[in-house]
Amino acid sequence: MSGFQYRNGQLYCEGVSVTKLVEQHGTPLWIYSKNELLSRLREIQTAFAEVDPVVCYSVKANGSLGILRTMALAGSSFDVVSGGELFRVKKAGADTTKVVFAGVGKTDEEIRFALECNILKFDVESEAELDAIAFVAKSLGTVGRVALRLNPDIDAKTHVKTTTGKKGNKFGMDIERASQLAEKVLKNQYLSLSGIHMHLGSPILTTDPYEAAAKKAVEVVREYRSKGHPIHWINLGGGFGISYRKNEGLPASEYAKVIVPHVKEAGCRLTLEPGRYIAGNSGILATQIVFKKQEGGKTFLIQDGGMNDLIRPAMYDSFHRLWPVAPKVAMPEDVEGEIAGCEKVDVVGPICESSDYFAKDRYLPPMERGDLLCTFSAGAYGTAMSSNYNAKPLAAEVLVDGETAKLIRRRQTYEELVSLETAE
Ligand code: LLP
Repeated sequence: MSGFQYRNGQLYCEGVSVTKLVEQHGTPLWIYSKNELLSRLREIQTAFAEVDPVVCYSVKANGSLGILRTMALAGSSFDVVSGGELFRVKKAGADTTKVVFAGVGKTDEEIRFALECNILKFDVESEAELDAIAFVAKSLGTVGRVALRLNPDIDAKTHVKTTTGKKGNKFGMDIERASQLAEKVLKNQYLSLSGIHMHLGSPILTTDPYEAAAKKAVEVVREYRSKGHPIHWINLGGGFGISYRKNEGLPASEYAKVIVPHVKEAGCRLTLEPGRYIAGNSGILATQIVFKKQEGGKTFLIQDGGMNDLIRPAMYDSFHRLWPVAPKVAMPEDVEGEIAGCEKVDVVGPICESSDYFAKDRYLPPMERGDLLCTFSAGAYGTAMSSNYNAKPLAAEVLVDGETAKLIRRRQTYEELVSLETAE
């Protein structure tokens, strides 16, 4: 079930009207559908069931405690990239023993914390990091379980700012260097190598890059095993794309088709780190039009949500479907280009930067001051990347389950904005 539909000209999240939620909690407001989150997770669990996957929801996509708790109760594990994310996972009451930890700059404190949490694996990105894990593990009298993160030099054809698996990116190691490191692990009693990791980029809208990566993985697993490493895990990271515009996103089963046979051939279990696929279309951002302004031959809808809330359009020129909460025109399948009964507008926020826009030259039903607008596909990398820029408080977040809605983060107050600071 899709979590958001129009009913009698009003947008609903599951069984709750968005207008009602806004009346209660104000705008900007993040609204998540619990059923959508869970059905996306289940889709992945089912599609990859043959290789007994450990699905590690990627905390970076949306690490709100209410979301993490929902994922944990549904049997998800977690992919973290910092001590703070690991802390969130713990705080949500989740099991940390199936957590995987990637990232090029893990500090000794973060490594110690992760070892104390007995995480499943560090995805190691350099020789220096491997040395640091061995050093900290020794000081704790424990063993660091590691996977080597490979840079397979595969072009995932995604945005230049979110490509990670191409030669020259800061992530992972080339396959030859990783082989040398594997030798080093064998000689160190404080390390054990049990897997390989690759993450190609995000979002990826074709299956070819995964097929190429899975093939490489089989070769590398064979090589490491021949050298005496007990390799049990192939981790192919995250990156599954979603539909931001129309139906361009593939179902998880399509990715599974090209990945599962190779993982089976290697005789490994699979780890995946999906973030966007689970959270992306499970969340929207509801905002209010503050002013409508005509200037320089353009019509601007100025809303109360801005790049401080959702930075994706400013940062990646990303496309999000926008449509009013109570539209005078039904939302068409295709929201790009001219639409009858609509006017061409720029939707912008209140932040003092020209890059603060959500859409340019977009056709929307006529909207006025006070009307509510909704930004779709905002559940991933929305609130997770939001900031207090221009001293804007962080927005509230609501998780809807059927007919009920739970406030999982209240709106930040002005006092809280300055609570860590002193003017002394
Ligand atoms: N694993 C690793 C090692 C990653 O670096 C990422 C994302 C993921 C998993 C999750 O990827 P996903 O399944 O969500 O595509 N802020 C950007 C996306 C940056 C992705 C960073 N790494 C955006 O808003 O599009």
